[in-house]
Amino acid sequence: LDNGLAETPPMGWNDWNAFGCSVDQQLVEQTADTLVSTGMRDAGYQYVNIDDCWALPDRDVNGNLVADPQKFPDGIAKLADYVHARGLKLGIYEDSGTRTCSKSGGFPGSLGHEQQDARLFADWHVDYLKYDDCNVPADGQNVDATIARYKAMRDALTGHGIVFSICEKTDFGVPNSAWPTVGNLWRTTGDIHDNYARMVSLFHTNVTLPDLAGPDHWNDPDMLEVGNGGMSDVEYRSHFALWAEMAAPLIVGTDVRTMSAATKEILTNREIIAVDQDPLGAQGRPVSSANGLWVLTKPLVDGSRAVTLFNETDAPATITTTAGQVGLGKAFDYEVRDLFAHTTSESAGRITAALPAHASAMYRISPSRRLAQPHVVVGLSAVDT
Ligand code: GLA
Repeated sequence: LDNGLAETPPMGWNDWNAFGCSVDQQLVEQTADTLVSTGMRDAGYQYVNIDDCWALPDRDVNGNLVADPQKFPDGIAKLADYVHARGLKLGIYEDSGTRTCSKSGGFPGSLGHEQQDARLFADWHVDYLKYDDCNVPADGQNVDATIARYKAMRDALTGHGIVFSICEKTDFGVPNSAWPTVGNLWRTTGDIHDNYARMVSLFHTNVTLPDLAGPDHWNDPDMLEVGNGGMSDVEYRSHFALWAEMAAPLIVGTDVRTMSAATKEILTNREIIAVDQDPLGAQGRPVSSANGLWVLTKPLVDGSRAVTLFNETDAPATITTTAGQVGLGKAFDYEVRDLFAHTTSESAGRITAALPAHASAMYRISPSRRLAQPHVVVGLSAVDT
């Protein structure tokens, strides 16, 4: 959606993965404070997003949505002020059907109230809307009606400066080809769960869709589980590297108030965040994936490549590629920046990593500045590219 609001993939936090329906004002305020005090805001995390279960079960007499006063005693507008005062932005959740997705019976959906709800969110100074697709009427369960529902909210949001996050979970098999003009991001999969197999299966789906993604329109393989305890830190590093390699939105889904040092280190890895946020906005693509040994390459705006080597298998393995395979032109030498170790080395063109099961290495590779001078070494044309 060409509104200039998501020129790079949105970064922030959302309560759902760690808290489910238990969202409230205190959690949002404390999270905003923590994003500042931990340096996460300065690393790029901008949105503090409220998911489902924030509203009262019914609209008021004027048909307006009402924030649950038990959970949000000061209301959403005040909360937006609180978040904005800390240099952050506020997100909220709604649904394109008659009720939201929550198992607890749901809260009012926006169907037929798109203009009214968009105006309310704008009045509250909300900056981001995640818009779900549960409880749609029987005659609305087809592609055209689904697109129409999302266009109704897109149109209602126009001019309000609100990022539009489509949470339709590919009910028709693949992300709709209309989505790049309807939303700033759209889900490409069902919900993530905090386990390795599920994370990998979402990766498998999302990695096939690089042609849909670009500035202001991103594939969304769902929010991060990093830090929630169901995967090892090795697996969380892979999760984070793969999401960044795919230019996915980086929406943290853990309790940042109590996160471990390892979780914080993963989530604030600025060199990996820079890959995700690279202004070229290209989603990384697989170079090879035989036997679960993945090589992915993502072109970056400075001409370098972000390369992720991911050992999906349950056994240690060595993964090897070359500068040529990842799309770099011939050079005498390449500079290889290790984005986890934060070290730089030189290579004649071969890139290789010995990886434990489920582990990833991530590199930023460019023709070496030091040796990118005139190619006088013609005799070495057999450089391994
Ligand atoms: C759906 C979405 C989740 C979350 C819940 C809330 O399952 O995919 O991300 O928003 O609804 O009910």
